[in-house]
Amino acid sequence: MKKIWIIHNSMYGNSEKISKQLAEGLKDSYEVSVNSIKNVTPEDIAKDEPYGLIIAVRIVAFRSDIEIRKFISDLDKVITKPISKVAYFSTHALGWKKLFIRGIKKSLAKIGCVEEVCPEYLEVRMQGAEGPAREGADAKIERFVSLLKDFLK
Ligand SMILES: Cc1cc2nc3c(=O)[nH]c(=O)nc-3n(C[C@H](O)[C@H](O)[C@H](O)COP(=O)(O)O)c2cc1C
Repeated sequence: MKKIWIIHNSMYGNSEKISKQLAEGLKDSYEVSVNSIKNVTPEDIAKDEPYGLIIAVRIVAFRSDIEIRKFISDLDKVITKPISKVAYFSTHALGWKKLFIRGIKKSLAKIGCVEEVCPEYLEVRMQGAEGPAREGADAKIERFVSLLKDFLK
């Protein structure tokens, strides 16, 4: 089975939970690993030569989390085999604004180790900074799993 990595930088557990839900949805077709960037290094991911990468992006101070952006650019420095498919999703507490994900889009455009970035993304709004997710999140996550299955083909 092709390998997919899902990475997050969850503080309150919400993006970790969604990462695990996505992993659960994909595990019948892919070998999926989920972890925090606090516990894995870019080298750990590079050595697996993953086919796909899914990135959880927390919104912090109106921007894509800079720690996960830094991890992505560090990954680009150590990777040997390009990653065929990359997708991302976002968790946030305020009303959604496209500018929230400008940063992660820029990071992905800048790096050379990615062949294709999923044109669509998932955004899940929290009930306040600590969550949990607002009602309707599970249905959105399920739809995103279906979309990912198509994208990853
Ligand atoms: C310091 C800080 C700043 C934040 N800034 C924003 C923001 O500008 N816009 C927004 O929608 N959410 C903001 N949030 C909410 C986070 O996006 C939310 O806590 C996070 O996505 C939840 O994910 P986690 O449970 O995986 O940590 C902020 C949270 C913190 C702690």
